Amino acid sequence: MKISKMVLGVSLALGLSVAAQAAEVEVLHWWTSGGEAKSIAELKTMLEAKGHVWKDFAVAGGGGESAMTVLKSRVVSGNPPVAAQIKGPSIQEWGEEGVLANLDDLAKAEGWDELLPTVVSNTMKYKGEYVAVPVNVHRVNWMWTNPEVFEKAGATVPTTWDEFFIAADKIKAAGMTAVAHGGQPWQDATTFETVVLGTAGAEFYNKAFIDLDPKSLNSPTMIKALKVFHKIKGYTDAGSPGRDWNLATAMIINGEAGMQFMGDWAKGEFTAAGKMPGKDYLCVAAPGTTNDYTFNIDSFVMFEVDDKELQKGQNDLASTILSPAFQEIFNLNKGSIPARLNLPMDKFDDCAKISAKDFVRTAKANTLLPSMAHGMSTFSSTQGAIFDTITEFYNSDSITAEAAAAKLVKAVAAAQ
Ligand code: GAL
Repeated sequence: MKISKMVLGVSLALGLSVAAQAAEVEVLHWWTSGGEAKSIAELKTMLEAKGHVWKDFAVAGGGGESAMTVLKSRVVSGNPPVAAQIKGPSIQEWGEEGVLANLDDLAKAEGWDELLPTVVSNTMKYKGEYVAVPVNVHRVNWMWTNPEVFEKAGATVPTTWDEFFIAADKIKAAGMTAVAHGGQPWQDATTFETVVLGTAGAEFYNKAFIDLDPKSLNSPTMIKALKVFHKIKGYTDAGSPGRDWNLATAMIINGEAGMQFMGDWAKGEFTAAGKMPGKDYLCVAAPGTTNDYTFNIDSFVMFEVDDKELQKGQNDLASTILSPAFQEIFNLNKGSIPARLNLPMDKFDDCAKISAKDFVRTAKANTLLPSMAHGMSTFSSTQGAIFDTITEFYNSDSITAEAAAAKLVKAVAAAQ
């Protein structure tokens, strides 16, 4: 009897100790489309392999605006998730609130400063210490095209905005939708920033969306960009208002539309649909932006917790995110490139290889730029002011570009 009691005692203790390590890690994110969901599922698998329980806190809505609203209410009610998808300058805003766990010990132990490009590591720190862990680098200034649509329309893939409207006219005349677009503020802003970059260049982009220079925001250059941006609306379809971004990507996949301006999370949808770049679709720089790279770094923060098991779960989550194995499998599915330096790219497709090369090339040429539309260049209040102004302008046929430019200055100033 004694032996069986001892065996029982040992197995109980063992069981408890395993249970003691298992933490329920609740993770807020907004990755719910086909490609996004496959990508985040890899993180769940890897975290659970470390003995933790993944509690999925997915808030649908491309661009993450809904997710951020839900997150704020959870934090205000004193019940934050264990981890959340927060990125860019918002990391500073959350750091200011004093609610983020400090990841610096882990970062030093794992040498994150050596593993990450400076532009990435700087974004992850609050007052010089890591409070966020980067998942990837997305490129935003892509244009996705369906070669079959172009062939049917006798159009050629444009490299300038003049060529764009010639191609768009041909696709429209052939009875297809020239531009697949979802009429949501963040998608309007994604197209808008790409037009500004393509018509006015990197230096102006910096002045407008990083310096928030009023003389740039309201200038003949901005007015010209606003006119090009508004003209695109005439090449979208009646179903565009409110459409989710991945449904616009589906229009390219099924040959309904010829072009989509979207970051390379769109590639995750092509990949999930079994489509091959260079054959079923092309990834090309949006007109006028071949030598530029608007970046969007996804990252996760951990909220401060007292529970030791949860802290271990947070450290295991952060460590898993930066591991070579996760960085590869996640980014293969997500359409982005690894945040971590010097990972082999041989499993990645040509679009990712171009992105990885251009990331380095544009960093050297000072044309590696933070995406305004994806929360990399301003605080959320300023981004919201820009979103409201350009979406109102895009949806109106009575507001002039001159009036919209003047409104941009006022809205941005009021948000400071
Ligand atoms: C971006 C996010 C991307 C992708 C996109 C569409 O803000 O950084 O990873 O999810 O929204 O939802």
